[in-house]
Amino acid sequence: MPSAYILGIESSCDETAAAVVRSGEQVVSNVVASQIAMHQPYGGVVPELASREHLRAIVPVVRQALSEAKHTYSSIDAIAVTQGPGLAGALMVGISYAKALAFALDKPLIAVNHLEGHIHAVLLEERQKGNHDLQFPVLALVVSGGHTHLYLAEQEGDSWTYENVGHTRDDAAGEAFDKVAKLLGLGYPGGPIIDRLAPHGDPRAVKFPPAQIKHRDRRAGTLSSAEDNAERPGEDRPRFDFSYSGIKTAVLRYVESHHMQAAVELRRKAVASIPKPKFEDYLAHCDKQTLDLVASFQRAIVDDLAGRTLAAARAFDVATLFVTGGVAANSELRRTFDRNAAAEGIPVYFPSLRLSTDNAAMIAAAAYPKFLSQDFAPADFSAEAGMRL
Ligand code: KG4
Ligand code: ZN
Repeated sequence: MPSAYILGIESSCDETAAAVVRSGEQVVSNVVASQIAMHQPYGGVVPELASREHLRAIVPVVRQALSEAKHTYSSIDAIAVTQGPGLAGALMVGISYAKALAFALDKPLIAVNHLEGHIHAVLLEERQKGNHDLQFPVLALVVSGGHTHLYLAEQEGDSWTYENVGHTRDDAAGEAFDKVAKLLGLGYPGGPIIDRLAPHGDPRAVKFPPAQIKHRDRRAGTLSSAEDNAERPGEDRPRFDFSYSGIKTAVLRYVESHHMQAAVELRRKAVASIPKPKFEDYLAHCDKQTLDLVASFQRAIVDDLAGRTLAAARAFDVATLFVTGGVAANSELRRTFDRNAAAEGIPVYFPSLRLSTDNAAMIAAAAYPKFLSQDFAPADFSAEAGMRL
């Protein structure tokens, strides 16, 4: 089988990315233009600004990915693009450009689910390291700003199938990091700064009750476990759902009841007056109470993610664990999974930090099995903001 070079394009949220990947197993180039600095003043992603920035960045980012790979538009074998889930306007930029390229160059076009991309980030890097014999079944935790999903992944021939066995009922874990950072005046995105501040606090200082999942599923477009099982008659598989809006509210209550608002405002103003605030600036403006709260919050989220994922791993008797998505960059999460999975004798794999957060290499990698089975996108396919895997 000759090598296939796939150009991947990703624009589902606040990163415009393009990459060239060889045969789903080697990153030849990987370019990511982040919009974080632009959304930072708003404390989160502003969809209209994201679309506009994607429009600005897409052509130079694709050009750079091709030139770093020493490829031309005509030397690639196929074009892959994220179809969803994500922001509709942002997705449309990548899709329109990918369609135009595929049409003009007469190359096959492959539509990829972003969540499948995160799973293939792990597979791509394991193959790149020469690890070709992963044991099945695989349980994959995809944990990011928009998702906290558990999938059982199986490979049959060239194609992959995924069974969702858990998802968040409300906020995603990354969303909780972002919202807590925002309410503490720690900027955007919240995950990386909380990750670095947490070792300076005491994770036992604040007790958060474990998440109780009693309410109905609040995620639009997702099904509750009962409905989900009803969709697959005859199947009564256990579910391992998550919930992170309670802990966010608990942090807010803690801030209020411990009269921390004035300190938060002071920090917000102090950091806003620094042109490009660095980690040290945030650290210098955090008192012990804030650091303890941040450390306890991170510990609670990490323990919950690892606890539920390992419970699912035991219930489904899985052979391998993947932990992927932006929150998989978290250092305490990696340590906890490494330790707890080792205790259970289950190997756990993460992508490198660069491929944990959004990128296009994972999109090109997920497209490779579809390239082999000629599963190409019709010319009239469109963005699917709430796309499921
Ligand atoms: O996968 P990603 O880049 O985009 C989505 O698909 O959502 O994930 C972004 C999320 C954000 O919520 C960000 O705060 C979180 O990943 N994140 C982290 C870390 N780095 C990024 N969360 C915890 N610790 C980190 N080191
Ligand atoms: Zn993502």
